[in-house]
Formats: sequence, structure tokens, C-alpha cells
Amino acid sequence: MLQDQITQYTAEINAFDTKNADELEQFRIRFLGTKGIIKDIFDEFKAVSPEEKRTLGKVLNEFKQLAEAKYQALNELTENSKLQTENSQLDMTLPGEGFEVGARHPLALVRREIIEIFNKLGFSVAEGPEIEDDWHNFSALNFPEEHPARDMQDTFFIKKADSSLSTGEGRGEAKGDIALRTHTSSVQVRMMEAGQPPFRALMPGRVYRNEAISARAHCFFHQVEGLYVDENVSFADLKQTLFYFVQELYGEGTKVRFRPSYFPFTEPSAEMDISCTICKGAGCQMCKGSGWVEILGCGMVDPNVLENCGIDSKKYSGFAFGMGIERIANLKFEIKDLRLFSENDVRFLKQYKTAII
Ligand code: DAH
Repeated sequence: MLQDQITQYTAEINAFDTKNADELEQFRIRFLGTKGIIKDIFDEFKAVSPEEKRTLGKVLNEFKQLAEAKYQALNELTENSKLQTENSQLDMTLPGEGFEVGARHPLALVRREIIEIFNKLGFSVAEGPEIEDDWHNFSALNFPEEHPARDMQDTFFIKKADSSLSTGEGRGEAKGDIALRTHTSSVQVRMMEAGQPPFRALMPGRVYRNEAISARAHCFFHQVEGLYVDENVSFADLKQTLFYFVQELYGEGTKVRFRPSYFPFTEPSAEMDISCTICKGAGCQMCKGSGWVEILGCGMVDPNVLENCGIDSKKYSGFAFGMGIERIANLKFEIKDLRLFSENDVRFLKQYKTAII
């Protein structure tokens, strides 16, 4: 008797289909409601004989599960179709899919900022090769042959596989060595050789030195070189240009000071310090308590260098400067370990997403 009823209702449930929420609700009330068919059948089940209970119990449970599964499956469909008709296929309430925005490398940010500042003073941008010959990296820049000044920068020399690859630049090919450039000053030479003043350019690029890698030194890093050659260029022009640069980069009120120094390619030469950007001159770890930090080397282009590049040193004079981009970034973002710049750890790089856009 009970078994027959179940068979009949099973067929009915299997055949049932709707996308209409009201019809589905009717179905739920009819079978699963508190006064529904399943409740009735379970009540009747209580009265059957113990032998029948054993077989019928399983059938009854399966029947109940069938009704519940049917209701759930149809309910999901009507839920979705409801959303679709209400929002014309687009559910604005669902959370959107987030996507990762890339970040610029802190060195790229700093390089761009430096270039932008000098652009305002009319400096253009030039580049040169990273593999250089002795002439452009040393000799033309007034590093005498076998002079200890060459040891100021430990050089990675490159062996020539084929002697026809000789530097072959003709003029002043001192040693014929090929090397990874140790500084961007080599680009000055290329620029001056290629034309006549006025020159007003910024030369960013990667440079290489044979140094053990540590937090404070790396075998490659980045520099920006500056060159300004024209008639009547003086040290006052150099000072004012660099002073303007520092105010723009680190904010007005940042102090500068020039200390006499030595570079083979400039005379006189200086190193420029700025008041410590971290402690504002009070003394901290960054400035080793002195209140000052060095940021670049500079000077008046040595007349020998001008002549080496085919420029009349009686008519023209100029200034040059060179700074390490890592150093500037270090002061701007307080990045103390140089290795971070080249490890490409996304956790590090992500922090500069919004630094300068
Ligand atoms: N080339 C120098 C270096 O790598 C930096 C430098 C100093 C560049 C003075 C210049 C300059 O143009 O005038 O240490």
C-alpha cells in the first residue's frame, strides 16, 4: 500500500520540471511542507509491521532525498533565471574579479624623475653602448695609460675572440681593450665626438664594476651622466644647475655643499653633498651622524677631454656630473640593501606602486 504510493509519487517527482518560482513553491509545499506528502507517509510508516519497516525504511529515505534533491536543483535554476531577468544578464551584486596592477621598478621611477627635472632645463637624453673600448671609457677621458686612476674603477675586461674586432676607432686607441663600461662618462665622449657644441644632455645607463656583491656594492648599477658644453659655461652654472636639481628632487630647503675632489676628466672637480634627507641634518645612520650625504661627482670638463673629442677648448667650456641612481633611490625610499634592486622580489617591487606615477 505504502510502497505503491511511493512508486507513484516517485514517478511524479521525476517528471516534474519548472522554472517558475510559484510552481516550485507549490511543489515544495505539496511534498516537503510540514503538512506535505512526505510527512504523511512517514506518519503512516510508524504503523507498519516491523518486517515491512526494514525494507520500506530505506525506500522511504530514498524517496525523501529524491524530493529534496529535485527541489534544490530546480530552485537553483529559478534563482539564476530570476537574477538574469532582473538584471538583464548582469548581476551587479556579485563581487568583481580583482586584477593585479603592475608596479614600476623604483630605479625606473627615480631615473624618470631625474630626467624630468633636467628636461625643464633643456637637457635632452642620450644613450651609449654598455660594451665599450678603452678609448671611450678611459683614454679620451684623460685617464693616462697605466695611471693608477684606472684602478679607481675595477673593470670587467672582455677577451676579443677575433682580432678584427679591434676597437678600430683610430684616434687614440690606447690599449685596444674592450670592457663593460665602468661609468656613463663614456657616453659624453661619444656625444662630443659626434658633433659640435652646444651640448646639453643627460645620459642614463647601466655600468659594471668588478666588485664582490654585498648590501653596499654590486657588480652592476645605474648612473646618470650630465653634460653641458657651450661658450662661457662656468662653475657657477654648474652649481646653480645642480642646486635647482636638488630642490626639485628633494624639496626646497635641501642644502648643498661642494667638496674639492679628483676625477681625471674634470678640472676642477668636486663632489656634491646634500643635507641628509632622512634626519634633515641632525645626524642619523644614513649620514653617519654628519648631517650630509654625498650624491654625485662633478666638475668643469677638462680641456684635454674637449680636445680629445675634437672640440676647441679655447672657444668652449663645459661642466659634467655623474650620479648613481641606486644612491638617489636609497635616499628617497630608504632602501638600504643594493641587492634588492636586482632580485625582482615581487614583495619588494609592489611597494612602489604609487610612489611616483
Ligand atoms: N664617472 C664618475 C664615476 O663613475 C662620476 C663622475 C664624476 C661623472 C664627475 C662626471 C663627473 O661627469 O664630472 O665615479
